[in-house]
Amino acid sequence: MNVRALAFRILRKYESEKFISREDVDDVLSVLEDRDRRFLKELVWGVIRKEELLDWYIDQLLKKRDIPPAVRVALRMGAYQLLFMDSVPDYAAVNETVKLLENENFKKLVNAVLRRIKDVPPPKEPHLLYSHPAWIIEYWSSFLPWESVQRIMVWNQKPLPVTLRANTLVVDREELLKTLEGEGTKARPCEHSPIGVVVEKAGIPLQQSRAIKEGLATVQGEPSQLVPLLFELRPGLKVLDACSSPGGKTTEIAELMKNEGDILAVDVSFEKVKKVQENCQRLGIKIVRTLVADAERLSQFLNEEFDRILLDVPCSAL
Ligand SMILES: C[S@@+](CC[C@H](N)C(=O)[O-])C[C@H]1O[C@@H](n2cnc3c(N)ncnc32)[C@H](O)[C@@H]1O
Repeated sequence: MNVRALAFRILRKYESEKFISREDVDDVLSVLEDRDRRFLKELVWGVIRKEELLDWYIDQLLKKRDIPPAVRVALRMGAYQLLFMDSVPDYAAVNETVKLLENENFKKLVNAVLRRIKDVPPPKEPHLLYSHPAWIIEYWSSFLPWESVQRIMVWNQKPLPVTLRANTLVVDREELLKTLEGEGTKARPCEHSPIGVVVEKAGIPLQQSRAIKEGLATVQGEPSQLVPLLFELRPGLKVLDACSSPGGKTTEIAELMKNEGDILAVDVSFEKVKKVQENCQRLGIKIVRTLVADAERLSQFLNEEFDRILLDVPCSAL
């Protein structure tokens, strides 16, 4: 299946459920080459991030705004490629989007809208222009200068680069960088996380990299890496991670504790807890106990005290 059709499938599901599970995306990403994977991620996350703005552009060109959800999703995908993906030629953005639909009338409609979308002048309202809710812009503006609010919003729109965290039980960051270089992967140290590296160009798909397969590193966003670093961790502590799967932070906590101490990793389903266990095994972590449970009810049956508690509650999976 082509990469735009896969993105279309994910975005249609998002349109009906307003939720994307990481598993759905990981399943799709696992069958793609690096180049397609990057394209799909940028397109899917970009369309979701800029949904309101894309709809605004589209609606300027529609006589009737009431169109089937699949057509709206296709239009958003085409509009995003035309307006925000310089690497995609305009003709490809239009033609490949039209191909996603079967109904001839809707194909014509999508073709007509996309061919004119770059002529629409951008909106003036900041919440549309920067794709942020109006209330948060108002809130930030109450204590920050407008230039700072703008900088935050521009930064929020940028796709996060792929970053890895060194498994400090076995390598330091320099050794990880050397291993990656040996595989033809270009990477550099993260700016803020002392144990992270930014992958600039992967020589081989990361899942096939020695760094991942042999447990030298974990794929984890830089902001996430910073959270356990704030906990003042040391060997011997007792930690509860109440919403732990897939274990990105659980394993980082264990690494920062030098694999000494006790971590209880909780998540709601058996499948999710299995992911934490698999990651611990891959990274050589021995101090994690796992528990399938609802974190909201833990106090009803868990009679233990902890030195640190992490509550990383569900988000949008973005
Ligand atoms: C943001 S993710 C956690 C990410 C994880 N901390 C990491 O760094 O890899 C939220 C997790 O909370 C779990 N979750 C949702 N509701 C829960 C509940 N009531 N009790 C325990 N876990 C829950 C989800 O299954 C999901 O795995």
